[in-house]
Amino acid sequence: MASIEAMWEELVVRVLARVDKKDFLRYLPRVCLAKPSAEEDPLADVETFDGPGPWDRTLLEVEVEDPTAPAVDGEPARNRMLLFSANDYLNLSTHPAVRKASAKAALAFGMGPRSSAMNVLAEMHKKEACVVTPTGFAANTAFLSALGGVATHNAASRRPAAHEKIAVFSDALNHASIIDGLRMMERHQQAVVSVYRHSDMQHLDELLSNCPFERKVVITDSLFSMEGDFAPMLDLVQLRKKHRFLFVIDEAHTAFVCGRNGGGIGEVYGIEDQIDIIVGTLSKAGGCLGGFVACSQKWSDLVRGWAAPTFSPPLPRYPSSRPPTVLITASFPSATTAVTVARKEGWRRQAVWNRVQEFAAMTKHPATSPILSLVVGSEDAAIYASKHMLERGFHIIAIRPPAVAPNACRLRVTLTTAHTSEDVKRLVSALSECVPGLNRPVDQIAARL
Ligand SMILES: Cc1ncc(COP(=O)(O)O)c(C=O)c1O
Repeated sequence: MASIEAMWEELVVRVLARVDKKDFLRYLPRVCLAKPSAEEDPLADVETFDGPGPWDRTLLEVEVEDPTAPAVDGEPARNRMLLFSANDYLNLSTHPAVRKASAKAALAFGMGPRSSAMNVLAEMHKKEACVVTPTGFAANTAFLSALGGVATHNAASRRPAAHEKIAVFSDALNHASIIDGLRMMERHQQAVVSVYRHSDMQHLDELLSNCPFERKVVITDSLFSMEGDFAPMLDLVQLRKKHRFLFVIDEAHTAFVCGRNGGGIGEVYGIEDQIDIIVGTLSKAGGCLGGFVACSQKWSDLVRGWAAPTFSPPLPRYPSSRPPTVLITASFPSATTAVTVARKEGWRRQAVWNRVQEFAAMTKHPATSPILSLVVGSEDAAIYASKHMLERGFHIIAIRPPAVAPNACRLRVTLTTAHTSEDVKRLVSALSECVPGLNRPVDQIAARL
């Protein structure tokens, strides 16, 4: 029996042959910017440091306007706050190397895409190739659009027949960009989507066992952004062996943060070869902007050549006169630098994980990642808790419907490299006044709500 990789590769090759009849993609040169001279090279002097610098606090200690206080000299009053709500887990966005190289690169080259970013990202995730997209959102919709093309262009007639569609299994709490991409595939009649209960492997196993389709895909966030919990990766890998599906993960919150080299959850478990497609973003721990799809060369050709997250072609086929759409470009130069810095300053990863452990030890909350999801219940309770934290000088926002269920509203707290043990202690003290079960009897807090 052909391996899963071989089956999908064959499907992709067939699509490439159909959509790229003139073999245009193979001959499409990748634009290389002129090599800068030594003095001009924006990456030549990437500085890395053994520990935090003053810049690390810049984005954490913020001033926010206070709409309830009287204005001062016509300006809204401001309060100082400590930010516990950003996704810049490694605080790279203020790192001097990232700022300098980004500015120098913009001066030297303009705001062009950087092929080296793609190479480094592919290498980080142990994949052959990488496509860079404007955002992580676009990376998911781009990949799913290309996946939809596999159904359309492998179909015998204009629309994929039932057995030619792709069966996609998606975790109930996957990110909105995955949901949008899947809706697009359904609308184009390319996929039949089944949503399995969050991280429920028994449910997924049942759905897969009852699925008559040959082409199956499982897609999941590796770290869920609102829950702060990891997908059960090893179980998923076992199911992949059993059911032979294409395995796609969204490493938005794990790239750079997890694994010795920042290679994400795949690196943590050493299962990179069991994951077919990795989608990610540079807007979280990368501290920049831009998304990526790390995958095989063939998939990368397809995504680069045919993914279309930004336009809506006539359905279900694109007119044959249309050249393959080379869409996605625009990774900013600074992204390249963030990757470089994240890999060189491994202590940053260690520091953020130390804060996670301290928080777990102080609160007995089962914190397993820098995203702490503190469920308080109703929307009113979440708003009260967030206001309380703002009054105590911590910028933490309430997560409410539609992001979460109405009875599971919460505070979402994110820890970063630049938070100190003292910050975490103060945070826990304030949280324990408004989050049930966090070192304080629930009924005492309920009385204040
Ligand atoms: C799991 C996940 N995937 C994708 C994205 C989108 O990334 P970006 O903000 O770069 O568009 C996010 C951002 O919130 C996310 O949490």
